Amino acid sequence: MSKSSFKRKILITGGAGFIGSHVVRLFVNKYPDYLIFNLDKLTYAGNLENLKDIEMASNYRFERGDITDAEYINDLFHQMQFDGVIHLAAESHVDRSIENPMQFILTNVLGTVNLMNAAKEAWKNNLENKRFYHISTDEVYGSLGEQGYFTEQTPYDPQSPYSASKASSDHFVRAYINTYNFPAVISNCSNNYGPNQFPEKLIPLFIHNIRNGKPLPVYGDGNYTRDWLYVVDHAQAIDIVFHHGKIGETYNIGGWNEWKNIDLVRLLCRLMDRELGNPEGTAEKLITFVKDRPGHDKRYAIDASKINRELGWKPSFQFEEGLLLTIRWYLNNEEWLNRVTSGDYQKYYEKQYRSKFDI
Ligand code: NAD
Ligand code: DAU
Repeated sequence: MSKSSFKRKILITGGAGFIGSHVVRLFVNKYPDYLIFNLDKLTYAGNLENLKDIEMASNYRFERGDITDAEYINDLFHQMQFDGVIHLAAESHVDRSIENPMQFILTNVLGTVNLMNAAKEAWKNNLENKRFYHISTDEVYGSLGEQGYFTEQTPYDPQSPYSASKASSDHFVRAYINTYNFPAVISNCSNNYGPNQFPEKLIPLFIHNIRNGKPLPVYGDGNYTRDWLYVVDHAQAIDIVFHHGKIGETYNIGGWNEWKNIDLVRLLCRLMDRELGNPEGTAEKLITFVKDRPGHDKRYAIDASKINRELGWKPSFQFEEGLLLTIRWYLNNEEWLNRVTSGDYQKYYEKQYRSKFDI
């Protein structure tokens, strides 16, 4: 198909990252009449190996590019005439944002505004069927006590440089909707887990460490709560919101699946012992309580009833089922893990955890 004969031309940013790669795969396979254009800078977190199975598809293109480069983004919109954008590119790790907030401001705030400016200009004469979908996080709502849930009405109260940058980008999207009638929609999701997640985040890091008999660095007392969603379920939700979400609206996406970190880690240890054929209790011996994350948010929990009521989405994977799929994927993809944990990442790991284990 030539570029102009596709029914829709969709720009997906950050498509070589964890969630982005699942979204790209879903769209490429499900919508052969859409052109799926994956724009990714390929930072330490972006990996084209995540998309090997679909890279030759005739409705897929990849380009390496940086959303902070306004001139490049404007030219790309001019050249490609996208009618939809699903914006996932971001700096996404809280610990890194504590080390280097500026990169989060550049990518997450400036990058988002650059994309909206380019889309606004490209779509100025015709808004029909145009849509900018901004992917955000539940962390913008701050931290909960023992009770309650984040709804779409919960006031923003970001607590980390990462969540402050995401909240800021959300505010810009809302301001563009309000000021320019910009055709955008936002979703805020809870913690994702699954294949292809960079092993700096809790679940893949701990799978990797158990596999290698390394300590499992649990921050603080481990009594912090997160709401976990299998990444394939998030990708399905993104498909539904992109096609059926109402312009100007926000949708919360979550797993109805809260776990205290320490309980999750113990479950992971049990499952890993089973998968590795080790006696029960082997992995748990690796649990090591380390210095806490500064400003650590106590609890996140999403009320995902709006997206269920209005768009019919709900999670489909049980937690243990998703966790087993995830563990097996990492155990079967050791090469992938070895490649992404070499080089620069290794240096980051040593810097991040040396001081924590030193306490
Ligand atoms: P990730 O870190 O795995 O991937 C981010 C991708 O963006 C990478 O491929 C990276 O190369 C790319 N990127 C970074 N800077 C770029 C730039 N300047 N220009 C172009 N590409 C760039 O992140 P993820 O976990 O897949 O998260 C994707 C999105 O979903 C983010 O916006 C994040 O805030 C949001 N989110 C993540 C979670 C989660 O649990 N992982 C939950 C809710 C929301
Ligand atoms: O809630 C959605 C957010 O979830 C996303 O927006 C972020 O992009 C994503 O990184 C994630 O943020 P968290 O900070 O919750 O994820 P992380 O995997 O880094 O940590 C999960 C919990 O585990 C958190 O309470 C911190 C704790 N933790 C994490 C690491 C990396 C540890 O105890 N030890 C660790 O080594």
